Amino acid sequence: MKTIIEPFRIKSVEPIRMTTREERERLLREAGWNLFLLHANDVLIDLLTDSGTSSMSAMQWAAIMKGDESYAGSPSYFVFEDEVRRLTGFPHIIPTHQGRAAEKILFTVLNRPQAVYLGNTHFDTTRANIEFAGARAVDLQIPEARVPSTKHPFKGNIDLNKLEDAFGKYGDRVRAVVMTVTNNSGGGQPVSMENLRAASRLARSRNALLILDSCRFAENAWFIKHREEGYAGKSVTEIAREMYSYADATTMSAKKDGLANIGGFLGMHDDELAMQARNLLILTEGFPTYGGLAGRDLEAIAQGLREVVDESYLRYRIRSVEYLTDKLEQAGVPVVLPAGGHAVYLDAGAFLSHIPAEQLPGQVLANELYLDGGVRGVEVGSLMFGRGDEGTGEHVAPPLELVRRAIPRRVYTQSHIDYVSEVILQVFARRAELRGLEITYQAPFLRHFTARMRPMA
Ligand code: F0G
Repeated sequence: MKTIIEPFRIKSVEPIRMTTREERERLLREAGWNLFLLHANDVLIDLLTDSGTSSMSAMQWAAIMKGDESYAGSPSYFVFEDEVRRLTGFPHIIPTHQGRAAEKILFTVLNRPQAVYLGNTHFDTTRANIEFAGARAVDLQIPEARVPSTKHPFKGNIDLNKLEDAFGKYGDRVRAVVMTVTNNSGGGQPVSMENLRAASRLARSRNALLILDSCRFAENAWFIKHREEGYAGKSVTEIAREMYSYADATTMSAKKDGLANIGGFLGMHDDELAMQARNLLILTEGFPTYGGLAGRDLEAIAQGLREVVDESYLRYRIRSVEYLTDKLEQAGVPVVLPAGGHAVYLDAGAFLSHIPAEQLPGQVLANELYLDGGVRGVEVGSLMFGRGDEGTGEHVAPPLELVRRAIPRRVYTQSHIDYVSEVILQVFARRAELRGLEITYQAPFLRHFTARMRPMA
C-alpha cells in the first residue's frame, strides 16, 4: 500500500474552536503580536511545540491508573527504571520533572572552573544551564546545516574537524561533547551513528565525556535505520541502544519521544557522579524514586517508551513531517531540507526577503499564519536570538531566520496537515504585502516569551 495511515483509531476527542480573521486580529493585537501570549483556546491548530503535547494511548491511560504514589520505593519507579535501563543500558536512572531539570543537575555536578562543552548544537535550555553553571557552550555544526536548501542525510552531525580543532584550542577545559539527537535547533535533523561513534572516540581520547541529549532518540534511530548503511536490518531499539552505548550520560525530556505530557530523566554510568546527582535531586526535585514526578507519570513514560520504538508509529510520524515539507517544497516555499523528525522549518529570511532582520520577518510570518488560518508556530530567528550590538546598538541577526511548525505526536490527522499547508501557501502567494514589526517591550533574557510588538507604520 502506498498510503501511510495513522496507525491508531481515535477513542477520545477534543474540540478545536474556529475563529474569524477579525477575532484573531483583535486577539493578537491584545497579545502584543506575541503568539506565546495567546490563550490556547483561541488557536485552531497548535504547532508551537511537540513537547508535552502528545496524545497518550489507551495503554498509557491504563498505566496511569496503576501508578503508585508511595514517597519512597514506589513500584511505579521500578517499572520506569527497568524500561529506561533496558533501552539505554545506563545503570543509574534518575527521574526528573522534565528535560531541563536533568540538565541543571548534570551540568551542576560536572562543573569545573572554566569548563567548556562542545556540541552539534546545544538546545536553548542546555546552553542556559551550562552558562548558568559558569561554563561555556560551543556549537560546531557541519557547514551544510547553515544552508536551509542543502540536502544532507545527517544534517544534525557535529563537524569532526572543528571538534578536533576545538579540543586543540580548549585542551583539558573540555568537560564533555554534547550530542543532541535529533538536532532540534538545526531543524530536527538527525545525527549518524558514524558521527556519534567518532565524536565519542574523540571525547574519550581527550578525557572528556560524551553526553547524549536524547529527547528525540527514536526519531533519530529511525533515520539511521533508513539512511545509514548497515542498519536497515536492525530494530529501532537495537539502534537506540547502540547510540546510548557511545555516551557516558544522557539527559532526556520524556515530553518528546517519551510520548508523555511531563517528565524526564538523567542516565549515567559513573557511581560517584550519580551519587552527587541524586543528592542534588533530593534538594531540588524529590526523592530518587520519583524525582519531581507522580508515580502515575513514571508509568505513562515507561509505556510511552515501549510504544515510541514501534516501527509503524515511526513510519507514520516521520512521513507526516515529510508530507508537509514535500508539499511546501513542491510549491516553491523555502523550507529547511530535507524534512526533519519533529517539525517543518520555514525559511522566513527567504520567504519574506523584503523585510529586514531587525523588523522580525520570522515573527511576521508566524503571526500571519495565525491571522490567516489560526495556526500557531514559533519564530526561531531574530526575536528569539537577535540582539543589539553592545557598542552601536545595531541589530545583530542570528545566522538563520526560521519559523518552526512542530508536529505534536499522534494528535493531528492528515486533513489537519493539508489545512496547514493550504494556509502556508495562501500566505506565500501574498507575501509581498506583509510588513515588519517593531518591539515595544522586551525583557533582558529570553525576550521572545514576553516581548510586545506592533506592526511598523
Ligand atoms: N533538549 C532539547 C533538544 C529540547 O528540544 C528540549 C525542549 C529540551 C532539551 C528541554 O526539555 O522542555 O522537557 O525541559 N524542547 C521544547 C521544544 C521546549 O519546544 O523544542 P524540557
